[in-house]
Amino acid sequence: MSATKKILKDLESLQNALALNIEERIRETVTRRDRFNLVVAGGNTPRGLYERLAARPAGSLPWEQVHLYWGDERFVPQADPKSNYAMVEETLLDHIEIPAANIHSIPTDTEQVEQAAAVYEERLRAEFGDQAPSLDLILLGMGSDGHTASLFPGCPVLEEDQRWVGASNAPVEPKERITLTYPILNNARAVYFLVSGARKADAVRNAVLRDLEKNACPSAFVRPAGELIFWLDQAAAQLVPKD
Ligand code: 6PG
Repeated sequence: MSATKKILKDLESLQNALALNIEERIRETVTRRDRFNLVVAGGNTPRGLYERLAARPAGSLPWEQVHLYWGDERFVPQADPKSNYAMVEETLLDHIEIPAANIHSIPTDTEQVEQAAAVYEERLRAEFGDQAPSLDLILLGMGSDGHTASLFPGCPVLEEDQRWVGASNAPVEPKERITLTYPILNNARAVYFLVSGARKADAVRNAVLRDLEKNACPSAFVRPAGELIFWLDQAAAQLVPKD
């Protein structure tokens, strides 16, 4: 499916619009299926989005029917401030009534990072069976180098075409990462990129135009079976050709 761009004036407007869209998407989906599988993104950009979702009036979001997964994780203890779990816990989980059984975080208490990836894969397969699931919505960030989740340029995991979870290495600390791979990302019902700021404009252009090879822009190879929407502020969208 081709990509859609939603361009908002600034990050605050972007997070407001995205929070409303996600709330509506969840409520509409659970009227048809009794469960919404949401993959949360790490990093800093989505913090305000999670805070807005957490601030919705009690009962306006059916959290008991929402299952949360992580798109990637740093191989650090969940209590570490650099953990994506810790960020989502601080901005969202601590403020909503969601059953613990609905929170499917990536384990980081194994000896090796590869084991953590294997454990998460086993848990996903136990949950969904051996066909890559069509997760309802996957939220992704994007780095200025074109990475997304922890699919970084030059990482062997970019070539993974069977497993749903892999280990990777980031160019910045914490370097050891666990990430969902293209097979599961590209089977999603919907993928939203949430990107803000001029420093990412070049990466956004590359991801939208898809005119570079995988190592130059891993984000460009997220091509889901379902919807793909780039949620951008004007600064991040400045190099994207106007439709
Ligand atoms: C992570 C993220 C990563 C992030 C981008 C953008 O673990 O850091 O999964 O892919 O989304 O690096 O990060 P910012 O939102 O902090 O710019």
